[in-house]
Amino acid sequence: MQTRVLTGITTTGTPHLGNYVGAIRPAVAASRRADVDAFYFMADYHALIKSDDPARIERSRLEIAATWLAAGLDPSRVTFYRQSDIPEIPELCWLLTCVTAKGLLNRAHAYKAAVDKNVEAGEDADAGVTAGLYMYPVLMAADILAFNAHQVPVGRDQIQHIEMARDMAQRFNHIYGREFFVLPEALIEEQVATLPGLDGRKMSKSYDNTVPLFAGGAKQLREAIMRIVTDSRLPGEPKDPDSSSLYTLFRAFASEGESKAFHQALLDGIGWGDAKQVLYERIEADVAPMRERYDSLMAQPQQIEQILQEGARKARAIAVPKLAELRDAIGLRSASTSSTVSAKSAGSAKADKLPRFASFRDGDGSFRFRLFSAEGEELLLSVSFADPKLAGGVQKRLRQPGASASLLRLPRSIELRLDDAAVAASPEYPDEQARDEALARLSEALDRLAAQE
Ligand code: TRP
Repeated sequence: MQTRVLTGITTTGTPHLGNYVGAIRPAVAASRRADVDAFYFMADYHALIKSDDPARIERSRLEIAATWLAAGLDPSRVTFYRQSDIPEIPELCWLLTCVTAKGLLNRAHAYKAAVDKNVEAGEDADAGVTAGLYMYPVLMAADILAFNAHQVPVGRDQIQHIEMARDMAQRFNHIYGREFFVLPEALIEEQVATLPGLDGRKMSKSYDNTVPLFAGGAKQLREAIMRIVTDSRLPGEPKDPDSSSLYTLFRAFASEGESKAFHQALLDGIGWGDAKQVLYERIEADVAPMRERYDSLMAQPQQIEQILQEGARKARAIAVPKLAELRDAIGLRSASTSSTVSAKSAGSAKADKLPRFASFRDGDGSFRFRLFSAEGEELLLSVSFADPKLAGGVQKRLRQPGASASLLRLPRSIELRLDDAAVAASPEYPDEQARDEALARLSEALDRLAAQE
């Protein structure tokens, strides 16, 4: 079985070497594994919490998409999309909001830090805090739970958010009486290097000590590397590799053998300037081909757009039926089916565990029915019958063990035929794969109906 691995990239700022080594490179490598079903997305709704500058939001989304593609992400293997192209995510965010204790959000680190800072400064506790910042963990939970992700690779600062997503999933599952959501786990890559920045502290935008990955080209890469702080040992004096940022950076790109040679060169007293040149050339060897792809993608934003649209289509093939299932489970149902449903299940989600037919009268006075799965997903809508007895007769035959119905695959839907006549059809699915998955659910529902008789 494949593990679904999902992670979001907040689209503020411009990617630097630390992002590449710490997040992008390992994520691209993971996406190539046969046992991984990777979902990577631009968290651009999250970006709005940090920035209200439209130009910056636009630029960063594009740069980050181009960076991941240039770094070798294959969009045909992974589901690569923008959060804001999936309206089901904010929809789920609201459903989760309504089962989330306010007290849980009060304890979120990012919100608490903002409050603590205000209190310390003698301000109102919530000064400058948007509801967006407060709701950050719920939106993130929706990102994850909409796709039933098993594993979420994140930095340590995000572990609490994954735990909160588990809390929300459990709470929703408990209230509505079924395992709607997989409980996600944080995946912390222990062996991934955190790179030192120009000043030796962790490379981070907030320390303003980063080395850009592509921005500014080879020239800026070299200039940044030449600015890395070293000690004052002169050429000819032995250097201590283990306390040198240069060596740590070098190792993040080089093979074991290359690293050994660099280690020895430092011990042998290579000058810092020369050492930086060696480091620059080693990094540039990896970065140059990627930068070329990056520049070519940035010159063709319509190509990026197309890739992301295709990603959104793949993502929605999962999120749309998921939200349909959830809406039904919580009682946001079609008015034309509601009377039948409530009469049967007396309002308890737990009691409602079998596939069911729901009959209704169409606008033109004819009679139709739907078939819903046990999870509440609409599987079939019948043709119109002039006589309710005919509609009832068809339902009765479908319940019969060994019913002689046949299921016909159409390009994006499924037709149910009885005695060579089409009597019902499934909704339209986004693609053949979604159709085939629905076909499996439909067959199962029909089997279960028959088993009840
Ligand atoms: N909050 C994450 C970060 O700042 C980004 C993010 C948004 C995310 N939604 C997500 C990560 C869902 C993992 C899963 O790094």
